[in-house]
Amino acid sequence: MTTIIPQPTHVKSLEGQFVLLENASIGASTAARAKAEQLAGFLRPATGYALPIIEGGGGTIQLELNPKIEGAEAYELSVSNSSINLTASSEAGLFYAIQSLRQLFPTSIFSHSRVDTVWSIPCLEIGDAPRFAWRGAHLDVSRHFMPLTFVKKFIDLMALHKLNVFHWHLTDDQGWRLESLKYPRLTEVGAWRKHTMIGHGHQENPKFDGVPHGGFYTQTEAREVVAYGLERHVTVMPEIEMPGHAQAALAAYPEFGNTGEKLEVWDRWGVNENVFNPLEPTILFLQDILTEVLEIFPSQYIHVGGDECPKTQWEQSAAAQVRMKDLEIGDEHALQSYFIGRMDKFLTAKGRRLVGWDEILEGGLTQNATVMSWRGEAGGIVAAKAGHDVVMTPEYPTYFDHYQSQNKELEPLAIGGLNTLEHVYAYEPIPPQLTELEARHVLGSQVQHWREYMSTPEQVEYMAFPRLSAFSEVVWSDKTSRNYDGFLERLTSQLERLDLLKVNYRK
Ligand code: ACM
Repeated sequence: MTTIIPQPTHVKSLEGQFVLLENASIGASTAARAKAEQLAGFLRPATGYALPIIEGGGGTIQLELNPKIEGAEAYELSVSNSSINLTASSEAGLFYAIQSLRQLFPTSIFSHSRVDTVWSIPCLEIGDAPRFAWRGAHLDVSRHFMPLTFVKKFIDLMALHKLNVFHWHLTDDQGWRLESLKYPRLTEVGAWRKHTMIGHGHQENPKFDGVPHGGFYTQTEAREVVAYGLERHVTVMPEIEMPGHAQAALAAYPEFGNTGEKLEVWDRWGVNENVFNPLEPTILFLQDILTEVLEIFPSQYIHVGGDECPKTQWEQSAAAQVRMKDLEIGDEHALQSYFIGRMDKFLTAKGRRLVGWDEILEGGLTQNATVMSWRGEAGGIVAAKAGHDVVMTPEYPTYFDHYQSQNKELEPLAIGGLNTLEHVYAYEPIPPQLTELEARHVLGSQVQHWREYMSTPEQVEYMAFPRLSAFSEVVWSDKTSRNYDGFLERLTSQLERLDLLKVNYRK
C-alpha cells in the first residue's frame, strides 16, 4: 500500500519498481504541457534533474489528457519498471495524479535542496476520484493580516492535499484587507487598528499590546493569489462580510452605519452591534464593492457573510424602521433577508452565486443562496431539504481555531472547544436525515481558520496540521475506505513531507 494522503480510491500493487534517473524525460501533448512543467518543477529541487519536456508521446513519464476518464477531477496513474503514465480528462485530474506521484517517491522528494538517494517507486496502478466537489479551507486574514507569501504556502499545502476551494475571509470588524479603487478609505482607515488584545477575549478589562496592526492586499496582489490558485486548481472564493462584522468598513465610512457615531477599527474579539444600515445607499455601496470584487475573482461562488448580525441598532434606528415600513417588511430578520436577497439578485444577474453562513436562513432564505452550515448541521439540513446547495462547515469538527488536545494548558491559547485529529478524521459531511436526493445538495465541506488567536504563519500551521491532512480524506476518499489507524500509518510519511516543506505542524 502507498502512503498517499488523501487515500486514493483504488490502488493495485504490482511486482517490480521504477527508478527515476537523470536521463528521464516527461512527455506531454500541448494541452498537458503546463502540467508537465509543474511536475518537472516539483521533481527538480530534490533530484537535481532538469527533466526535459518532450512534445507528444515517448516520455519516461507520460502525461495524457483523455476524455474517456470519467469525472472532472479523476485520474489514473500507472507505474511500470520502465515508465509512469498519468491520465485524466482535465488538467485538474492530471494535477491530482502529480500530487499522488510526488507522494509515491521517497519522502525526501519534498526537500528544497538536492538529496543523494535512489528515486524508486513500487510498480502499481491507481484509479482515483474525489468524493466531494467542494473541498475547502477558509483563512481569516482580518483578525490578523497574513503576508502574501504565507497565503501562497497555504494554497500549496491545500493543493498537496487535493483541496480545491480557498475561502479568503477578507473583511471583518478588526480589519478590511482588500483594496477598493472606488472607496480607498476602506484600506487607508479600515486596514489598521491601534492595538490588539492580549489573552482571551472574554475579559472585562482587557490588556492591549500597544502595537498598531494592519495590512491589506492590493488588487494586483489579490489577482496574483487568484492566478496562483488557478495553477494549482484551487478556486479563490472571497468573503465580504455584511450586514454584520462591519466595523472596520464603518470606521472608514460611518455614513453606512446606524448611529452616526465615529468608530475605530474594532480592538476586541466577538460579536459587534455596529452593523451596516439597511438603507439603499449602503446596498449600492456594497454592490459597488462587489463589482470590484467580481473583476478580481472569477470564482462562481461569492461569500457575503451574513452571520452574527445583531439587530439592536436596526431596532433603535428610525431610518431602519421607516425602511421596514416602506418595504412592508415585518421584522428585522426579514430585513436582513431582504438585504442578502438584494445581493443574491445582484450576483445572480452577473452569473455568480451567493454563499452565506447559516444565519441567512433566518427571515427566509434567498432564492439562489448556497448555505455554509456552521452552527452544527441543522441549517444545512433545512437548506438541503429546501433544495439549496450546502457546504458543511459545523464548528465541531471543522473549526480549526479550537483546541486539538484535552490538555489545554499545554497548548497555545485558542478560542476554546476541542476538535482532535480523530474527531476531524471521523467527520461525515452527509447527515443521515437527508435522503439520497437531498444529499446531492451537500457540495462538500471545508475547515475554518478563524484567526483571533493565530497571529503568525507558524501558529496557523500548528492549528492546521495535521488536522487538515485528516480532513482531506473526509472530502476526497471513499467513505468505505476510511480507517483511522491506516491514516495514522500514512500520516508518519506525510509528517516527514511537512517537515521538509517547513510546516510547523503539531507534533
Ligand atoms: C462564524 O463562525 N461566525 C461563521
